[in-house]
Amino acid sequence: MRMCLTGDLGGYYTGAIGQDRDQFGIKGDFVTSPEISQMFGELVGLWFIAEWISQGQPKQGVQLIEVGPGRGTLMDDMLRTMKRFPAMADSIESVFMVEASPELRETQQKLLCGPDAVPETCEAGFRSHGKHLGKPIVWAESLKSIPIESNKVPFIIAHEFFDALPIHTFQSALAPASLPKTTASIASIEKTSPEVKDSPPSYEWREMMVSPTHPAEVASAQAKAKAAGKDAPPEEFKLILSSKPTRHSRYLPESSLRYQQLKQYPGSVVEICPDASLYAADFAARIGGSEKVKKSQPSGAALILDYGTSDTIPINSLRGIRHHKLVSPFSAPGLVDLSADVDFTALAEAATLASDGVEVHGPVPQADFLELMGIRERAEMLIKGAGTNKSATEDIEKSWKRLVDRGPSGMGKVYKALAILPENDGKRRPVGFGGDISPR
Ligand SMILES: C[S@@+](CC[C@H](N)C(=O)[O-])C[C@H]1O[C@@H](n2cnc3c(N)ncnc32)[C@H](O)[C@@H]1O
Repeated sequence: MRMCLTGDLGGYYTGAIGQDRDQFGIKGDFVTSPEISQMFGELVGLWFIAEWISQGQPKQGVQLIEVGPGRGTLMDDMLRTMKRFPAMADSIESVFMVEASPELRETQQKLLCGPDAVPETCEAGFRSHGKHLGKPIVWAESLKSIPIESNKVPFIIAHEFFDALPIHTFQSALAPASLPKTTASIASIEKTSPEVKDSPPSYEWREMMVSPTHPAEVASAQAKAKAAGKDAPPEEFKLILSSKPTRHSRYLPESSLRYQQLKQYPGSVVEICPDASLYAADFAARIGGSEKVKKSQPSGAALILDYGTSDTIPINSLRGIRHHKLVSPFSAPGLVDLSADVDFTALAEAATLASDGVEVHGPVPQADFLELMGIRERAEMLIKGAGTNKSATEDIEKSWKRLVDRGPSGMGKVYKALAILPENDGKRRPVGFGGDISPR
């Protein structure tokens, strides 16, 4: 999954789909919330302003960090909104954009700094001055390039980033020692050690591995698809269950009680995203401090918006998307977008384990979050501004309803918001999660 998405040989985000085309929009493969309407980025920007007020309006050291910024639209709408709150805008020291794709880094830089801005190289990657606030915007390939500093107030946004991180899938199976023996070996066990016969069965985790499909199988499947008039790309790979434990199966599914409890039910499947836990832990350390970098007072916030499960462990969620259609994730590697459901409980667990200085709120459905943030009021304002322009009015209404659609596969229900905040004994709920602005 990592190679297909961000591999340097040409992953989906790192060059494979070609320079003349990007992943987003009608001509691309998918549409994300910030691309649907400016309201999304504006309300996310407002959420950070409300947090900044609730945390005592820190005058300096504020960092805005976005991971996986796509075309840069979300940050553009956030910065335009923040400009209208000069005290907060002044407190921002720098903006960081963490982006794996060189092409998207360039697109973001043009949007946020203007088409003529000349980037200069810096330790993390490159930097340029932003057109909205005039503050430096730094581009980095990885979050590791942005130092964790105790005197900073990091405001971190991740929208549809976690679903693009590689997952591992494991299935519980009877351990070989518990499998039925041949008659001869059973007889010898019975003679020598009666306690072995009576010991309860033991289970182990096996990893699902990606394996090449035999070329003859690919050719025959292709011929059948052609005869049926389908033009789906062939599945060049398939998932097989490893016959033995692997390096990952020995420790990942043992890392939380949530997985351990399922091990005794053979056939149980769990999807685990270790990178997601590492990112959540990094966010928490930046906000709440850690053993390595202690903070005198936790500060900042992270807002994670993505699709996934609130309290169950994702299973069978790996999917491929191309030209707005679901396709096999094992076809056309590098040309198909791959994603998997985000396990929000695992993120919360990783964040709170990484730092005693943080607490987690949510996940709440995107519809609740956006409605509490005032999407209706913002849409009404925009509609008023559109005046007699009927098609603009219809567009605003359509995109607002799409973002908060609570139908079974609607964006308002499937997408969720989770916040990582400075530890506060759960006394202050953030805006959008049932709380209000509470100036200090
Ligand atoms: C689904 S897009 C979401 C884009 C944007 N947040 C939006 O909502 O429109 C995923 C983004 O994450 C980036 N990305 C994926 N894996 C990454 C990684 N390991 N490190 C940094 N960026 C990554 C992609 O290049 C892309 O910008």
